[in-house]
Amino acid sequence: MSGQTDMILVDKKGMRIDGRKTDEHRPVHIEAGVLSNADGSAYLEIGKNKVLAAVYGPRECHPRHLQDPTKAIIQCKYNMEAFSVSDRKRPGPDRRSIEISKIIAEALERVVLTELYPRASIDVYIEILQANAGTRCAGLTAASVALADAGIPMRDIIPAVAAGKADGHVLLDLNKEEDNYGQADVPLAIVPSTDEIVLLQMDGNMTRKEFDKALDMAFGACHEIYEIQKTALKERYAVSKEDDGDE
Ligand code: CDP
Repeated sequence: MSGQTDMILVDKKGMRIDGRKTDEHRPVHIEAGVLSNADGSAYLEIGKNKVLAAVYGPRECHPRHLQDPTKAIIQCKYNMEAFSVSDRKRPGPDRRSIEISKIIAEALERVVLTELYPRASIDVYIEILQANAGTRCAGLTAASVALADAGIPMRDIIPAVAAGKADGHVLLDLNKEEDNYGQADVPLAIVPSTDEIVLLQMDGNMTRKEFDKALDMAFGACHEIYEIQKTALKERYAVSKEDDGDE
């Protein structure tokens, strides 16, 4: 988010460097149940982002002092692989990954029926295999599919996407160049059945009007991604039914 203004990221026809229109998100592909040893899992691509999410639990929470006698806690680990970005990332947690893990766990707590599992822990692992901006949203979108795949009761699943501003235009789902040289980035995650916001952040600056437009675009895209999440889960179920028939 350099805010550099001399960078051409949108041409005179309103076309972006990757060929998208200003209100278009990158292609999304989601597959549920990709790992056999995790309780639930999902693989997601949005543009050049590649993300794996895995869920383990509910299990008895250790260390015990973290237990909540009234509900399960969600422990989330967002991790960016060393090879996921163009400059090798130093492996292990840093301030950014700790922050992203926290906000993803908080968003998921809004939909998971944690009260059904007192003293338990639900572990959510998010591995960013390839990053191209928007990984917190991609990670959260994949994690909620993985939770549903694990059979964990939820009020709804959460889709997430960012909108922002680059080269003076309000854009949906910024890619790496737009994020790097743009003026603002606004990640959004919602509960589609109620349109409740469970994650909203803003990096950079926008006018109120631009912000409203960005939010509008992101809401619309979240509903589109929600359909892709549901299709991935339905496809997973269809495959399981075939497997059951074979046995
Ligand atoms: O990924 P997201 O947009 O949610 O978070 P960000 O902190 O705004 O990072 C934007 C992008 O910067 C990431 O998706 C990566 O492509 C890139 N990045 C990087 O190249 N090296 C890092 N250590 C962190 C981020």
